[in-house]
Amino acid sequence: MVTGNSSVTVFAPASVSNVGPGFDILGFAIEGMGDKIRLSLNNDGQYSIQSIGAELPLNPDKNVATVALKALARDVGYKGGFDIKIEKGFAPGSGLGSSASSAVGAVFAANQLLSLGYSKEELIPYALDGEQVASGNRHADNIAPCMLGGFVAVRSCDPFDGFQIPVPSDLKVLIIFPDVPIKTSDARNMLPNQVPLAAGIAQAANMGALVKGLMSSDYQLIGDALTDAFAQPFRKQLIPLFDEVEALVKGNGAAGFTISGSGPAMFGFFRGDIDLEPLKQQIAARYEQREITVRFHESGINERGVEIING
Ligand code: HSE
Repeated sequence: MVTGNSSVTVFAPASVSNVGPGFDILGFAIEGMGDKIRLSLNNDGQYSIQSIGAELPLNPDKNVATVALKALARDVGYKGGFDIKIEKGFAPGSGLGSSASSAVGAVFAANQLLSLGYSKEELIPYALDGEQVASGNRHADNIAPCMLGGFVAVRSCDPFDGFQIPVPSDLKVLIIFPDVPIKTSDARNMLPNQVPLAAGIAQAANMGALVKGLMSSDYQLIGDALTDAFAQPFRKQLIPLFDEVEALVKGNGAAGFTISGSGPAMFGFFRGDIDLEPLKQQIAARYEQREITVRFHESGINERGVEIING
């Protein structure tokens, strides 16, 4: 029988992954955007899904949140069911970790409701089961920052091993998302299975430099290192006006610019309280000419990760 608290509501933030040279390794959580998830226990053993703000799969074996819940329930021997209500704060397929937010929010809420006592790190493999359904691959560069908060580097997924990287206190992120959905699975399938040695060397060199730049608040180094030799050369062709947006962002004071996750979202790093309205207007005007809707989100880094927003 279900006893005690039978419902909980959590907020699971959106996240930026890859972050230039950190393909499948680096990610950070975003302030002010994410999924609100209400999870309830039931006694009938069924999984019901309600979604608001986006059309999500309603088959529990195809929805990332319920796949993650089922994996957790199986391991802990929970025979009851769950009713989940997912309010999407941003669109799936935008490159901001939509599947990660849903999967993380679900298992974090279940951990609370079933009093399992797992740490956030211990919950990551279950959320990864959900991510695998969405993208066909187990990568934790959205899952880990969404779960833990902050700017996270993933050393291994199974078992999870990763760490948070300190970032400059005045780091500001401008996210630009044109309304052209890209499925992560498609964006992964277009990548070659092997990378040239020179690309591997450049990626490793920039990875080290980016971490050093972030930890020492060296914006010049952050900007120089924020490049991606693995995915961006292939994926940028999926994003309308990519080169023009890059030129505008870099020409308006950004310390670096690249794709967020598998796109189409892109982001630039900025220092301090720079006024980004003129830049946004220039970018919006270019997309308007192409009759593409574009949205923006200015954010710091969310240091808390997924959290309960009521009991
Ligand atoms: N690292 C992943 C990718 C992030 O680029 O495919 C998107 O889920």
